Amino acid sequence: MSKHTRTIMITGGAGFIGSHVVRLFVNTYSSYLVVNADALTYAGNLENLKDVEKAANYRFEKADITDAAAIEALFEKYAFDAVIHLAAESHVDRSIIDPLAFVKTNVLGTVNLLNIARRYWANSETKMEGKRFMHVSTDEVYGSLGEEGFFTEETAYDPRSPYSASKASSDHFVMAWYHTYKLPVVMSNCSNNYGSYHFPEKLIPLMINNIVNNKSLPVYGKGENVRDWLFVEDHARAIDVIFHNGRTGEKYNVGGFNEWKNIDLVHLLCKIMDAKLGRPEGTSAKLITYVTDRPGHDMRYAIDASKLNRELGWKPSLQFEEGLEKTVDWYLQNGDWIKHVTSGDYQHYYQEQYAKR
Ligand code: NAD
Ligand code: TYD
Repeated sequence: MSKHTRTIMITGGAGFIGSHVVRLFVNTYSSYLVVNADALTYAGNLENLKDVEKAANYRFEKADITDAAAIEALFEKYAFDAVIHLAAESHVDRSIIDPLAFVKTNVLGTVNLLNIARRYWANSETKMEGKRFMHVSTDEVYGSLGEEGFFTEETAYDPRSPYSASKASSDHFVMAWYHTYKLPVVMSNCSNNYGSYHFPEKLIPLMINNIVNNKSLPVYGKGENVRDWLFVEDHARAIDVIFHNGRTGEKYNVGGFNEWKNIDLVHLLCKIMDAKLGRPEGTSAKLITYVTDRPGHDMRYAIDASKLNRELGWKPSLQFEEGLEKTVDWYLQNGDWIKHVTSGDYQHYYQEQYAKR
């Protein structure tokens, strides 16, 4: 008999959000066994989990979610009763250059996990009882908004980038496994996250890193696109409450009620960084450079997260300025982390590719 009350596979636990979810679960639920299954792509880094790697209730397994034999072997080894699925290719610009990699991991990988979880649980003594498959998805599946309105859980899917199309597809497969096979699923669709351990190809960490190094700050198009930003630890808390208390077969939107135009956000970051680095105000803003826009660039995302608040009592804990300051402090104190995770040459890669079209 296992001494653990629950054995959970967290996929993608070495990535940005996954590492925060692993940390939260390992530190909060000492009776659970948390198994981080991650292929360690360019975006996965075990340095993100140094503080929990020796915890008695934590294990790491290097595994690719598209590899059926490897995932089956993990189910046999640990007899998981739950999966929290975060592993994905997650960067829109990469999806424009190499869409098939996104189909492989995000679609085939998800279906592979669904298949194996279903088979394994259907053959277990207790069948689907007490089992849980949580799928972590994005607000980008809903498409692009104009100036008005919000995405709700009823908004029709309208993905427009290869990344969001692959996530939308994975969401549909998750719901299909619920309806067809009674797999006990629950799903979340979250807005843009920011915080520590964010790979510096995404807007906020890229800008922080470039300001530190006096490099240009590439703002796509006119910088008028709007994103709704949520502190990553608030997202991890949302995943915790949805995993434990969300209704089976339901999806929950997660968002920060915190919309920013990219250019305003970059200016705010420049101001915070000037103060932190002891530079005269206005120094970093001079690095802003408008560059070729991302093809098909979604204009605005805005999440209505009232269902999650109403049903499960979740709301964001941090004001944006406070979260951003914490994030900037973390990056300034962890320069070595950035050096280790970056190869250095990707920053302008996408603009060069778009400009050639
Ligand atoms: P990330 O790119 O930082 O991390 C992805 C992780 O998955 C990495 O550790 C990587 O090694 C792993 N991985 C990739 N392919 C794999 C494979 N084939 N097998 C096993 N592991 C693999 O991503 P993130 O920003 O932490 O996002 C995590 C999840 O949350 C994704 O599903 C993403 O779609 C979703 N999401 C992200 C955001 C955001 O703002 N970043 C917002 C909403 C939802
Ligand atoms: P990103 O962090 O890639 O997240 P997503 O595309 O999933 O929303 O980008 C956030 C916004 O910032 C998006 O509108 C694209 C824009 N952006 C830039 O203007 N410059 C950049 O260098 C990057 C990476 C993004």
